[in-house]
Amino acid sequence: MKNASFDFELALYQINQAILEYSASLISERLPTELYSPVAYFLGLGGKRIRPLLSLLGCYLFEAKYELAIKPSIAVELFHNFTLIHDDIMDNAPLRRGNITVHEKWNTSVAILSGDVTLIEAYDLLENVNSEIRTDVFKLFNKVARQVCEGQQLDMNFEHLIHVKIEQYLEMIALKTAVLLGFSLYMGARIGGATQEQAYSLYQVGLNLGISFQIKDDLLDVFGETTKVGKQTGGDIIANKKTYLLLYALENTSESQKQRFQQHLYSKDISSNDKVRNIVELYNELEVQKNTIIAMKSYFDKAISCLDELDVNHFRKTELKAYFQTLFDRQF
Ligand code: IPE
Ligand code: IPE
Ligand code: MG
Ligand code: MG
Ligand code: MG
Repeated sequence: MKNASFDFELALYQINQAILEYSASLISERLPTELYSPVAYFLGLGGKRIRPLLSLLGCYLFEAKYELAIKPSIAVELFHNFTLIHDDIMDNAPLRRGNITVHEKWNTSVAILSGDVTLIEAYDLLENVNSEIRTDVFKLFNKVARQVCEGQQLDMNFEHLIHVKIEQYLEMIALKTAVLLGFSLYMGARIGGATQEQAYSLYQVGLNLGISFQIKDDLLDVFGETTKVGKQTGGDIIANKKTYLLLYALENTSESQKQRFQQHLYSKDISSNDKVRNIVELYNELEVQKNTIIAMKSYFDKAISCLDELDVNHFRKTELKAYFQTLFDRQF
């Protein structure tokens, strides 16, 4: 029998349609408007919809008809959007998805509360998983949601630390970013009929993919095109984030260059533009871009080899890998 392939365009359309309907219901049915319109605004800005796509793909690996996964996959996207609304406050970010962030368009109180209600909506939508797997899915979701908060706190702690090891960084990004990609795949797989063990193998795939994904996010923050990435270029440098780029540079530089780094990073008399320019210059001297891609690739390869170990339909696995590759190659 010929293998039916995963129609990415259709899946993305279905996801966006479900989000659109959901947003429309917020606007027409809920009050006060001041709480819900920022949520609809933010969801309307788009985004890559990676997490719901991973849920549909995780389901599809075990069951070609992934429709049952659509609503729960929107829950994961809502959770992700909650983290972004709050992340933009924490990171003092002016731009998101090429548009003004919620705390800048309205104010911080609005962004806190709209973020909170987005999280609650996510829980509500997650009820759509079938009853046999509900407890299992919620259990992992709660664990992952807590880990995301832990990762975000570490990310902020690190802004104030001068010495952070790459190992600590990897632990931090596993928490703030990668576990949610793992969960997206896990949930999809469970909806598609996978056993806990099979779904957990897929969770490991997502974890490694997520680490690679966050390293690329760090790279794009500095070397991406603002119009494509839709975020302020150099925002991580301005906020003293401990990114892979910075930690690699610090670990691979001479004492004198290290002092130059520290001067640019922690001097109070330097403008944001000069700070970014000077740090990028140091990154270029140290071939940071090339070496960051090497690190990214090593986690990407781990994700692929974890997937290879999984005993599922070979053709569907190939489709999943093709999608992973688009994430690896992305310019935004
Ligand atoms: C941004 O996530 C935050 C990270 C975890 C790196 P995405 O890059 O998936 O953001 P959108 O949803 O496409 O805007
Ligand atoms: C955000 O990491 C991770 C979460 C929102 C949990 P970043 O702060 O690097 O994400 P961007 O670059 O703002 O999207
Ligand atoms: Mg952040
Ligand atoms: Mg941020
Ligand atoms: Mg980032």
